[in-house]
Amino acid sequence: MADRLQKVMARAGVASRRKSESIIASGRVTVNKKVVTELGTKVKVSDSVEVDGLPIGKERKVYFLLYKPRRIISSASDEKKRKTVVDFFEGIPERIYPVGRLDYDTSGLILLTNDGELDNRLTHPKYEVEKTYVAKVEGIPTNDELKQLRLGIKINGKKTSPAKTNVLETDPKKKTSVVQLTIHEGKNHEVKNLFKAIKHPVQKLKRESYAFLNLRGLQSGEFRPLKKYEVEKLYEITDNKHK
Ligand code: URA
Repeated sequence: MADRLQKVMARAGVASRRKSESIIASGRVTVNKKVVTELGTKVKVSDSVEVDGLPIGKERKVYFLLYKPRRIISSASDEKKRKTVVDFFEGIPERIYPVGRLDYDTSGLILLTNDGELDNRLTHPKYEVEKTYVAKVEGIPTNDELKQLRLGIKINGKKTSPAKTNVLETDPKKKTSVVQLTIHEGKNHEVKNLFKAIKHPVQKLKRESYAFLNLRGLQSGEFRPLKKYEVEKLYEITDNKHK
């Protein structure tokens, strides 16, 4: 049986299908020692696929939960040579990468793995899982403003999906509030854009939880491996939506 190259790469844990496509297009992939840039290329189990000269599929799958500090880039590399989330894992030989993104100035929970299939499930817009953030915002949002977030707001012509909101603290003197927000979309700067839209810009942002996972037991900058049942559960919760 032959499968599309990007699917084989994702299954082998190189990257998500979409990321594998850009790796192929950039000429880093060989099939039987020949560079392949065509996205639809079919490969058989007997074909030898290499990325950057390294055979794929040789790595065991690993999964980590990191408490990302502020001022860390959440990509595998940074052209400005700033510290990335992957730099926390220097002793780990597998090629891991972050599942989705947190902004440079956002702290909190981020997963890293070399399992392209799980990455694809968790980050694909169709299968987005629930994420909870705590935002310190300017001003004190009114009930009506928070209701807009709960009903969905038009940003750049598109309506956002409903968010759950919970005001945790208000400081009338400093004119700031701390609001917990749960969303299941993962667009760039989603939380900041939501609060900007109701005229309460975010001053500080932290992701507290991702699906059923949270930061309990970790300090900023620390990580832990996911437990086997947690990985299984992440597969389970994206399973019925995964076709
Ligand atoms: N929403 C944002 O605005 N920033 C993040 O880092 C995550 C979600």
